Amino acid sequence: MPSAEERHPLLDRLDPDRIPQHVAITMDGNGRWAKQRSRPRVFGHKNGVEAVRASVRACRKAKVRFLTLYAFSTENWKRPEREVNALMELLVHSLRKETAELLENGVKIAVIGNVEKLPSVCRRELQEAMRITAANTDLTLTLALSYSGRWDILQAARAFAHQAATGALPADRIDAVLTEEAFGDLLSTHGIPDPELLVRTSGEHRISNYLLWQGAYSELYFTNTLWPDFREEDLYTALLDFQGRERRFGKTSEQIEVQ
Ligand code: IPE
Ligand code: IPE
Ligand code: MG
Repeated sequence: MPSAEERHPLLDRLDPDRIPQHVAITMDGNGRWAKQRSRPRVFGHKNGVEAVRASVRACRKAKVRFLTLYAFSTENWKRPEREVNALMELLVHSLRKETAELLENGVKIAVIGNVEKLPSVCRRELQEAMRITAANTDLTLTLALSYSGRWDILQAARAFAHQAATGALPADRIDAVLTEEAFGDLLSTHGIPDPELLVRTSGEHRISNYLLWQGAYSELYFTNTLWPDFREEDLYTALLDFQGRERRFGKTSEQIEVQ
């Protein structure tokens, strides 16, 4: 396997002009990875951290500008308390351990989701990581924590309703003011382009409430690889697959060829 600093041959097969700006990943399969080794689920989560490092490295090398990782969903709060606590501890531990290197590598850390629900130690650590890396511009690494697409859409709708309720917005102006773009600005991902590519590991073929609005036209890429086994080459393979696709956005193939 090439070392972190060697250039992977798949990287040279990518068309630099057609690298997606934003890749979103659903990191799935940690529990099954651990089970295959007769270890507790948390062992799988811990080993998933190396896959996060590899994905960040691959995105930097391929010049992807935004990487969004689904780390903990709204629905994941329903898991056994022990597992939830272990995931929160792992988050704190990983942020403490990795932030300095991320800072060095031009990575800016961001978060989306209902962070109020996270334990205060997690919120503090996230705030600190975001503060330290705020000036970086190469890659924005967004962690989706206590996140779901429905939560995001609902919080945006509520924010708009609050604005409207102050009376600042007459009813006959609502249709003109609330455009797709304006609504997008109310979502937690404002300032981040929609993901062109959505990757899910572990062979599950579903969205699981991820980026529902933003992923409206994302290309979906599924791999059977379990998250703890995901490495740089898996990301390049997903990017290559993406570059082989024709994105039509409702148009015909002939219209796209003319463009
Ligand atoms: C993804 O792996 C990690 C989180 C959802 C936090 P899982 O824990 O869902 O692993 P499987 O799907 O049970 O294998
Ligand atoms: C989706 O994975 C959420 C994250 C990866 C954080 P899950 O493993 O929770 O999804 P479902 O419940 O199997 O759809
Ligand atoms: Mg899962």
